Amino acid sequence: MGDNPKDNDNGLDAVTDIVGLRAEIDDIDNQILDLLGRRVTAAKTIGSIKRRAGTIVVDKQREGEIYRRLLSSNQKALKAGPLHQIYRSIISAGRSVQKSASGSGEPAVYSVFGDPVGHSLSPVMHNSALARAGLDGYYLAFRVKDIAAAVSGIRGLGIRGASITIPHKIRIMDYLDQIDPLAVAIGAVNTVVNDRGTLHGYNTDCFGAVQALSEKTPIKDQDVAIVGAGGGARAAGFGIKQEGGRLTIINRSRERGEKLASDLNCAFKPLEEVDRLPYKIIINATSVGMTPRDDSRPLNTDMLGKDTVVMDMVYNPLQTRFLAEAGQIGCTTVDGAAMFVHQGAVQFELWTGEKAPVDVMYRVVLEELSQ
Ligand SMILES: NC(=O)c1ccc[n+]([C@@H]2O[C@H](COP(=O)([O-])OP(=O)(O)OC[C@H]3O[C@@H](n4cnc5c(N)ncnc54)[C@H](OP(=O)(O)O)[C@@H]3O)[C@@H](O)[C@H]2O)c1
Repeated sequence: MGDNPKDNDNGLDAVTDIVGLRAEIDDIDNQILDLLGRRVTAAKTIGSIKRRAGTIVVDKQREGEIYRRLLSSNQKALKAGPLHQIYRSIISAGRSVQKSASGSGEPAVYSVFGDPVGHSLSPVMHNSALARAGLDGYYLAFRVKDIAAAVSGIRGLGIRGASITIPHKIRIMDYLDQIDPLAVAIGAVNTVVNDRGTLHGYNTDCFGAVQALSEKTPIKDQDVAIVGAGGGARAAGFGIKQEGGRLTIINRSRERGEKLASDLNCAFKPLEEVDRLPYKIIINATSVGMTPRDDSRPLNTDMLGKDTVVMDMVYNPLQTRFLAEAGQIGCTTVDGAAMFVHQGAVQFELWTGEKAPVDVMYRVVLEELSQ
């Protein structure tokens, strides 16, 4: 049998089906165009009325209400992420005709710089958050090789804020105007805020880790172990110390682990020497367990007690082998998406000055990960 669907009767049926379905799509598109035209005309009229009355054009509360209503009446054919994307464009178009009727504003642009960056969940998370907060803006992913040139791009294009990811979190520090003391101490920046041409660097991974944990357990005076000594471990380690946790760094390579433990003024244990886990909280800050090597785990879970709180920074898969086994033992577990969303929420608040819609951000990230 050939690859062409016309090669047999079933193929002919399929072609007929496609023709019929395409006609249906064309008809739906015509109806959508008609409805969009009516929507835009109504928005334009509202803009004119507002201009005459001298009232503010963008009504964020109203836009928030629209998203809330859409999310609750959505029949699930569309996931929350795509629904937000579609309605953000529709509302944005309505907003721009309102503005041209009343003469104001242009959308803000935000971005993520990394390499690779194709699978980043930041665009869907931040675009949904912007939409839900009723803010006029776009968040775009850029695969960046030359971070110095990309920082010039922030300045030249007036990008309001950027997320910085692997491999640029350290090198970017050379090109910013000001760096938050916590980010200096951690030695990495994952967030840039463009304050009218002055670029400020922050590290929100630290807050993300602490916030995700704090939702499940107190940290103060608890024995905490972090497995790993890279960027994620550094950020979480500073957060745990700030919260008053008693920290131990566990790492495969002795040199890197000892360096981080010395920077944090805490204990160090080589991974190969771990034969018991006398900690209340254990955090995996290695990439062990990440897709495609999702059958691996950073520690032998036979050593875990059921009262332990186990967090995994890996969020792809969301349910790592480490978390799944810890959950079976009865441990409280914290997934990597919680940390990711909380670090993103702080970015959002730094950029926009608005409270982040954490519930929507978490929902769209979980939906993306479940695909
Ligand atoms: N959820 C979030 O928001 C979030 C935020 C940051 C990071 N992360 C995740 O956290 C993980 C670590 O990120 P990172 O930026 O800290 O990476 P990194 O700087 O490259 O550090 C990786 C760490 O993992 C250890 N490691 C790697 N392979 C190992 C193996 N097979 N056995 C034992 N240890 C191993 C390394 O040990 P050596 O020193 O011995 O090489 C190092 O300590 C990644 O999966 C990342 O996606 C998640």
